[in-house]
Amino acid sequence: MDSLMIKGGTPLEGEVTISGAKNSTLPLMAATLLTREPCIIRRVPDLSDVKFMAQILASLGAQVKVDGSTVTIQANKISGYGDYDLIRKMRGSICILGPLLARLRKAKVSLPGGCVIGARPIDLHLKGMQALGTKIEIESGYVNCTAKRLLGSEVFLGGRAGPTVLGTANVMMAATLAEGVTLIESAACEPEVVDLANFLNAMGAKISGAGSPTITITGVKELHGAEHEVIPDRVEAATYAIAAAATDGEVTIHGARMDHMGAVLDKMREAGVKIERSGPSFKVKRGGQLKPVDIITQPYAGFPTDAQAQMMVLMMCTPGISIITERIFESRFMHVSELSRLGADIALEGPSAIVKGGKKLSGAPVMASDLRASAALVIAGLVGRGKTLVKRIYHLDRGYENIDEKLRKLGAWIERVEET
Ligand code: EPU
Repeated sequence: MDSLMIKGGTPLEGEVTISGAKNSTLPLMAATLLTREPCIIRRVPDLSDVKFMAQILASLGAQVKVDGSTVTIQANKISGYGDYDLIRKMRGSICILGPLLARLRKAKVSLPGGCVIGARPIDLHLKGMQALGTKIEIESGYVNCTAKRLLGSEVFLGGRAGPTVLGTANVMMAATLAEGVTLIESAACEPEVVDLANFLNAMGAKISGAGSPTITITGVKELHGAEHEVIPDRVEAATYAIAAAATDGEVTIHGARMDHMGAVLDKMREAGVKIERSGPSFKVKRGGQLKPVDIITQPYAGFPTDAQAQMMVLMMCTPGISIITERIFESRFMHVSELSRLGADIALEGPSAIVKGGKKLSGAPVMASDLRASAALVIAGLVGRGKTLVKRIYHLDRGYENIDEKLRKLGAWIERVEET
């Protein structure tokens, strides 16, 4: 198992190019199960989660060819039975359910289970499948779905914490091959849902309204192969933007879409960070003394839960009190105790973290608990004086392409070391 050794205290300077979005790539890859014809997906990031998805698709019978950042998938003959151990390892794998059901009218996949950030139920995914006429049985850790016919229907996908991103993706994919019209209400509006709808439409689906809370899908008889380029990763871009500001550096970010990052960039500006657009890129630097800001995570277009941990580090560098409230996942504060090892002063109060910023940070050995928590620990390590060892960085490799290499190019002292 690898760790990252970081010597902090150097401002990040230079340019970084953003990779394709992990959270778009996974459902896009799953969508290729909807057709026998080959599909080509470009700008696919080199991540362990993407490799996992490729293994899952291959285990179902699909042919997956990877050539740099281009992945070609042909799901000519497939089975509806997902390997228990493979699927269990990655929560994102649940998005094979909709395509399998649409194509084969049956799917048996293992329940993805919870993870450190929260319980992560799939009741809304199943509610959507049921609305389309699917019979569902939960047995020995598997969800067993069968449908004689899939019939278009109306389904409301809002839950306790708002809409569900992968639930919307799943129902949208299942409905592409259903008979008649499906209306998803309280649909997730995330750019990754729009990206998927664009790909499905390129495959011959009839979807309108993606990006709004009401999505209409008119079922078609079959889908065909298509080519698609994945949207840039807005969370990766936010992570580098926050790291630039936290280290008091100056970084130009290429290849990101500012229009997907409104809430993060707005909060950074409110905190006093300068964000300057220059053509298709943007430059981030501190504009003097930072100011504390309060943040509440929300579904898109609100502040994303996936940038909450990273933003907490920026607030640790900001004199004054900031309150960060997590509304999407109930236990997404695992980074707080580890950040405290570097000298952060953060108190947890229900769903909120009260950050008393401006304290000196100094390096320490810390343990990564999930993907975004790991990113926050890396940023804190880049800020703190001395050495920080971030252990269990396989979490980072799930979602950040070449993070150590990209940070080194920005002048960071960062080395991958083997854990003993
Ligand atoms: N929820 C339910 N029932 C369901 C599904 C979700 O109650 O059937 C709840 C969840 O427990 C949570 C909320 O609804 O409280 C939102 O969960 P959502 O379903 O939207 O999450 P997801 O689709 O499983 C994706 C991303 C996550 C990201 C969330 C929220 C992928 C592969 N994952 O998860 O990304 O945090 O949307 O934006 O797309 C990450 O990249 O680090 C990550 C965790």
